[in-house]
Amino acid sequence: MSVVSSAGNGKITVPGILARKSGISLQNGSHAKITCLTAYDYPTARLLDEAGVDVLLVGDSLAMVMLGYESTLPVTMEEMLVCTRAARRGTRHALLVADMPYGSYHVDTAEAVRNAVRFVKEGGAEAVKIEGGERRVDLIARIVDAEVPVMGHIGLTPQSVNAFGGFRVQGKTAEAGEQLLRDARAVEAAGAFALVLESIPRELAARITAELRIPTIGIGAGPDCDGQVLVIHDLVGLTFGHKPKFVRRYADVGEIISHAAAEYCRDVQQGSFPSDEESYHARTEKIGALLGQQK
Ligand code: KIV
Repeated sequence: MSVVSSAGNGKITVPGILARKSGISLQNGSHAKITCLTAYDYPTARLLDEAGVDVLLVGDSLAMVMLGYESTLPVTMEEMLVCTRAARRGTRHALLVADMPYGSYHVDTAEAVRNAVRFVKEGGAEAVKIEGGERRVDLIARIVDAEVPVMGHIGLTPQSVNAFGGFRVQGKTAEAGEQLLRDARAVEAAGAFALVLESIPRELAARITAELRIPTIGIGAGPDCDGQVLVIHDLVGLTFGHKPKFVRRYADVGEIISHAAAEYCRDVQQGSFPSDEESYHARTEKIGALLGQQK
């Protein structure tokens, strides 16, 4: 299920995203920030696409927000592919990016390239996202060489949760900041078309953004990035527990669903749902015999 990104009909493409790098897109010097949200299913992808979101990311965060795991680590290639295909069916204009799940690119390069290609061929993704900096350089280059555009991801990379010892803000010391700068440069040099910066100090994200030629897309990285990404479940209030500082909640869909379900239970129990208008009827002359009535 591959997709052709034809320009000129409002379709967001990889070159289009590259051209949105701060200061180089519009002649008046201003630029439109890149908007990115996660989407893991058909209706959400369709609603976000129709709302004009530039990039839809089938993030491995679905492990946590859709499947209820405590980290992103357990989600499989097959689960990611099902969700990517569903999001594909709901996406017309946005660029569809699929996250490569933990284990799908960590064992050997040939398998990683095969998995990246599967996201394009079977999932309909137009690019993949890979976590990691300097140590992913060869891999990113190989995947780009296989005609699969790559979005990088550095900072708090959730697949490293065990190595980090938890979900912690990264790059808070000069040494850690220097490493992230090296990571960002390496990902760009390897051929990535964009770079997600997750949970790093605003000042460091601004520095990386100023230095790179590819756009940066921040999550918990302050307002100076070339774009922003959030997990849709955080944005609409469909997550439970701790809300990270960088999340802005634009709606409380969780509350709406709870309320609707409670009202439904009440109506069923009281016998007011379904009503006669919400029921099908057969004509008496056709079904009367069965029901013991005269024609
Ligand atoms: O999986 C995901 O949703 C992500 C974004 C938060 C960048 O990687």
